[in-house]
Amino acid sequence: MQFAGSHILSVDQFERADIERVFEVADRMEPYAQRRRITRVLEGAILGNMFFEPSTRTRVSFGCAFNLLGGDVRETTGIESSSLSKGESLYDTARVISGYSDIIAMRHPAAGSVAEFAAASRVPVVNGGDGPNEHPTQALLDLYTIRKEVEHSGRSVDGLRIAMIGDLRHGRTVHSLSKLLACFRNVKLTCISPGELRMPGEILEFLRSAGHSVTETDNLEEAIGHVDIAYATRIQEERFSSPEEANRYRGRYRLNQSIYTRYCEPNTVIMHPLPRDSRAEANELDTDLNENPNLAIFRQTDNGVLVRMALFALVLDVVNLLAKHEVPVTWYTGKRFHD
Ligand code: NCD
Repeated sequence: MQFAGSHILSVDQFERADIERVFEVADRMEPYAQRRRITRVLEGAILGNMFFEPSTRTRVSFGCAFNLLGGDVRETTGIESSSLSKGESLYDTARVISGYSDIIAMRHPAAGSVAEFAAASRVPVVNGGDGPNEHPTQALLDLYTIRKEVEHSGRSVDGLRIAMIGDLRHGRTVHSLSKLLACFRNVKLTCISPGELRMPGEILEFLRSAGHSVTETDNLEEAIGHVDIAYATRIQEERFSSPEEANRYRGRYRLNQSIYTRYCEPNTVIMHPLPRDSRAEANELDTDLNENPNLAIFRQTDNGVLVRMALFALVLDVVNLLAKHEVPVTWYTGKRFHD
């Protein structure tokens, strides 16, 4: 894949070699993300960070990633505070914002909206989630995390056993991650969801036709016992026709320390794209797992910065210039990355 100048809209754009390239660049971003070195390679560049749906980590980590490369960030959050609420089209908004920015990251509630926006944009656009459809940068950071979590025990993504749990129908993170996993070999995917919230059939078919094994079940305890990765998700309440309908599924699956101890193999890695729904009626990933060393959720969020830095550096074609634009670290950086 040609990264320089490209939109990043879907995991369908990536072959295995492209994923490896992103991960190799992400590894090189660690000293910058950990404030051991500073690069100003994107000094003068502007990221248009356009988030038309709620977001904390995706929006902020896109912004931090750009700042850590020396660039500036301009944000628009919420449809109601943008001219989309005055009836402006995505085409016009894209023409305008791409005149102000060097690259755009965008999230929007409608499937296909980010691609529509990108078609009118004069600069590269990165999809930060388009409705229930795709979330390619999350899938890349999830896969990057999976690879890091299992490599110290000599395993790789090939042959891995992965359970995805929860709202697999509406969850864009599991859609994108499943398709990305299809680039590897012999993955065994177990989809654990209520019957009404199953993974879309075309994604399962895609995995099967690429030679992977896929099983579906609604029984968490039975299925969770023989996996390397347990990837929990939130009921995507905003995608249901009413809160009452979403409530029917809330709390159906609750992964906690006692279930983990009882059913999981030792060292099963626990993941979640976050936010986890910590309200009592949901609680799909209990806080009593917080001290479990296999809980990788905050390693995922840290890795999100590395992967987004890598994508910016690749799309804006500055990977080979990072070191040339280094300046000294001048402030006390603490120990947060070294505990
Ligand atoms: C996810 C999303 O927005 O799709 N969050 C994220 O980007 N990390 C998952 C979710 O909201 O449940």
